[in-house]
Amino acid sequence: MQNLLEEGGELYLSERYIPERPLFREKIIEKYLGYLRSFLVYNISGIVLFEGPTGTGKTMSFRFSEKTIKEKLKLDEIGGKIIYINGRDKTAIEVLHSLLTNLGISIPRRGFSFGTYVNELEYFLKNFDGHVHVCIDEIDRVGWRGEHSVEDLLYVLTRNERLSATIITNDFTFLKRIKDPRVRSSISVDKSIVFERYSKEQCYHILKDRCEKAFRKGVISDSVIWRLSEIIGKESGDIRAAITVLRLAAEIAAERGGGEITVEDINAAWRRFESSHMVEKINALEAGQKLVLSGAIYEKLISLRGRLGMGSIGMDTLRVKLNELEGYGVISCYRRGRGRGAGIERLYRLEIEVQSLLEALKRAPELYIALMEEVKRIVSEKVSVFRETL
Ligand SMILES: Nc1ncnc2c1ncn2[C@@H]1O[C@H](COP(=O)(O)OP(=O)(O)OP(=O)(O)O)[C@@H](O)[C@H]1O
Ligand SMILES: [Mg+2]
Repeated sequence: MQNLLEEGGELYLSERYIPERPLFREKIIEKYLGYLRSFLVYNISGIVLFEGPTGTGKTMSFRFSEKTIKEKLKLDEIGGKIIYINGRDKTAIEVLHSLLTNLGISIPRRGFSFGTYVNELEYFLKNFDGHVHVCIDEIDRVGWRGEHSVEDLLYVLTRNERLSATIITNDFTFLKRIKDPRVRSSISVDKSIVFERYSKEQCYHILKDRCEKAFRKGVISDSVIWRLSEIIGKESGDIRAAITVLRLAAEIAAERGGGEITVEDINAAWRRFESSHMVEKINALEAGQKLVLSGAIYEKLISLRGRLGMGSIGMDTLRVKLNELEGYGVISCYRRGRGRGAGIERLYRLEIEVQSLLEALKRAPELYIALMEEVKRIVSEKVSVFRETL
């Protein structure tokens, strides 16, 4: 692949690269810089919410703004601090711990109550002559474990004068799910910034810029970049996906020994991306959902749960879980009448390759071991339709 790339070109095909001039996000960034400035300079507290689908530039816009503000304001002189924490799979305590560590406070990661970490933070802020702004990325993934919820954490963030926050999510239901009215009202509507999916044209301009930096001259033509932009614009508007497909396409071209990336390489890369993406999607499901998915194929959900010591599951819960899986696009449901007075029948169909499901199961060893026999059977039978009468 090296002979397709410019010297150091990999950087432009990776997440590490922060664009010098992020396209189509100029207005958002300008507005956000205004908020950051008022937090840091005038010591105003508040929470900014970034929401929008995956790969629409939320993390990038934060990182870019952080860099800009650090260049423009002499944060050390005004006593300002900006801290970035990715909340994925952290407990509320782990986020607090990470914040404290970033502030230079050393305290063990475990062994203290939530209140102790909060007290440490409050003590620091009381004696601090400045303002702390914390960005918690993937806030919707905080508190899946642990005793304390993400709401407990957000409450702490709204309670301190010298503290403000940016929270980032790609889950549009996140705000709606917050019950505490004090927390809800402090994530004010006027400070929420919505990131839209990129259109085909926008994808093209962003990708064109990346390609010019990453590849040698003549390696990728405009029509090939357009083909990729068309796919992404139609499917998801997700630039991260586009960049990954670009990288895969370059690998495919290199494997073939070609000196340029063709439309066929892009098409093949997109197919490869889609199937591996499905594996990740299934992997991201919680164990209960994964099992229902497995059950959908094996028609033996209850006995499988029993074997895994998970106890039985009621019809209502099963239906909820099937709905969730439908929402994820992993299965589809077709409802049809069973004849007069006989109710309706739901037919569920697996919408993904059996191979992807197996791949995902392999990455969940606890399920894989327990389900080995069924997995073997399924490979031979290729069962993909499951009939369930509810
Ligand atoms: N406007 C843009 N110009 C150039 N590159 C961009 C732009 N928007 C996004 N990118 C790039 O696309 C990739 C994904 O963007 P980012 O990580 O900000 O997505 P996100 O909205 O945070 O997604 P997620 O919700 O999945 O975390 C990054 O490599 C980023 O640099
Ligand atoms: Mg992100």
